[in-house]
Amino acid sequence: MAAVGEKRYFFRFTLGQRYLHGLLMATFLGLAATGLPLRFSAAPWALQVAATLGGLGTILFLHKTCALLLTAGFLVHVGSLLYRAVFRGELGLLWGPNSMVPQPRDIVQLLQHFRWFLWLGPRPRFERFAYWEKFDYWAVFWGMVIIGLSGYAMWFAPFFARYLPGSWLNVALVIHGDEALLAVWFIFTVHFFNSHLRPGVFPMDPVIFTGRTTAERMSEDHSAEYERLARVGGLQAIEADAPMRWLVNFARLLAVLALGTGFALLLATLVAFIRR
Ligand code: HEM
Repeated sequence: MAAVGEKRYFFRFTLGQRYLHGLLMATFLGLAATGLPLRFSAAPWALQVAATLGGLGTILFLHKTCALLLTAGFLVHVGSLLYRAVFRGELGLLWGPNSMVPQPRDIVQLLQHFRWFLWLGPRPRFERFAYWEKFDYWAVFWGMVIIGLSGYAMWFAPFFARYLPGSWLNVALVIHGDEALLAVWFIFTVHFFNSHLRPGVFPMDPVIFTGRTTAERMSEDHSAEYERLARVGGLQAIEADAPMRWLVNFARLLAVLALGTGFALLLATLVAFIRR
């Protein structure tokens, strides 16, 4: 099959990470598309979505199905991290240049980045994960815990009511709805901009779908990682073949669908929120 271009490519994400992101993306969009019509059930578009899907009962069924799939993905992710850290001794997951854990250098680089935005200093040299990538990750991680726990409290209300005061279930509904709104607004603005719409990758970055990045992108966006690996001869280990044309086209299609659905939901939500 035809490969695209003659550039040098490196793996940035494993197949497992790409599948996990695909599951997260599909179920989050599904949860947002089914949760928001429940939250703004009086809005004309919400009634339209409900009528198209077969009523609010069907919407709730789809919402719960997506919730179960997302929970399964979340548990597999946390389980695999624990296994790698505890049983395989991969302590680099917890600290160091490849870790997602926020570190002092992230705060320094955040300040340096703002100086760079204002033409007051050089661009910071990011490691494998820049501070905003860690922020995106943890925002989703904790958001999922909060939204998930409150969602299950509502789903299994009689069970939770045995241990919690009944009023807490009302609080769970408020937390669930508001945190969901925050998540939707965050993902469909900040995350979309950071990953796809920022200068350099606009209109989309296929890396999370193809798993591969170019040497040019890596040396610009993650220059500290690129130079560190080049110094210790680690680049060969992640050298990749060029992504197949079908994979690039598939990535583009997925990105267009996801960005389009996200922006449509964002717009519908903003309109319903303002007109409340
Ligand atoms: C494990 C994850 C989740 C579970 C178990 C869950 C469960 C539920 C349940 C049972 C309801 C119905 C509450 C009722 O009967 O009125 C609901 C409502 C809702 N869900 Fe989720 N959900 C989850 C994740 C999400 C996510 C990720 C989003 C957004 C992206 C979301 C957005 C909403 C919204 C907006 C409502 C309507 C809240 C309201 O009426 O104010 N949910 N969810």
